[in-house]
Amino acid sequence: MKFFIDTADLAEIKDLVATGLVDGVTTNPSLIAKSGRNFLEVVREICAVVPGPVSAEVAAVDLATMLAEGRKLAKIAPNVTVKVPLTPDGLKACRALAGEGTMVNVTLCFSAAQALLAAKAGASFISPFVGRLDDIGAPGMELIREIVTIYRQYPSLKTEVLVASVRSPLHVIEAAKMGAHVATIPPAVLRQMFAHPLTDKGLTAFLADWAKTGQSILDPDGAERKAAE
Ligand code: G3P
Repeated sequence: MKFFIDTADLAEIKDLVATGLVDGVTTNPSLIAKSGRNFLEVVREICAVVPGPVSAEVAAVDLATMLAEGRKLAKIAPNVTVKVPLTPDGLKACRALAGEGTMVNVTLCFSAAQALLAAKAGASFISPFVGRLDDIGAPGMELIREIVTIYRQYPSLKTEVLVASVRSPLHVIEAAKMGAHVATIPPAVLRQMFAHPLTDKGLTAFLADWAKTGQSILDPDGAERKAAE
């Protein structure tokens, strides 16, 4: 499963890229606004630190302007993935941009029917928003199960399921169990995935017992310690 980071915060991205676990980044107009940064500049900077796909969303809703914006975004860097909304014009833009060799991430997906349309439009990624479905009492992860099941019927489909609106590690785990290709994870949620109290407890116990041995892996004979005394 690929892990994308769902943020436009460059410091967070750099910190998590250093773990070697980050395969890409997704942004959207709300995350760009939250960053307080110039859109084109921050996308350019993110693309420079992340080797994988970096989603940058158009702001227009009409085909002609979406195409113009998408083509401008695609020129920022080879790993830019143009994000378009799941609307008729958005899918027309997807078809055109994909035909030009641009990666397209079709976003704001809330049904299997929409996901099927996006795949037919040549999307590189489809972004179903599981958290927002959960928010209205609809089982977001069931949508992922539906989409993965449908896409699996057609091996020639190249669209990857990119689980978005992730709110907890459980969304990531369930998505992985279902075989979703990608999860785009808020930095805080990714950090939660590292944490387990029994890991902390076990490590503390290991370190305490190791200290009792008085040994050093790097200075087994104690020569350096004696020299320092
Ligand atoms: O990538 C889409 C994601 O940022 C939306 O998340 O929590 O606003 O539904 P959320």
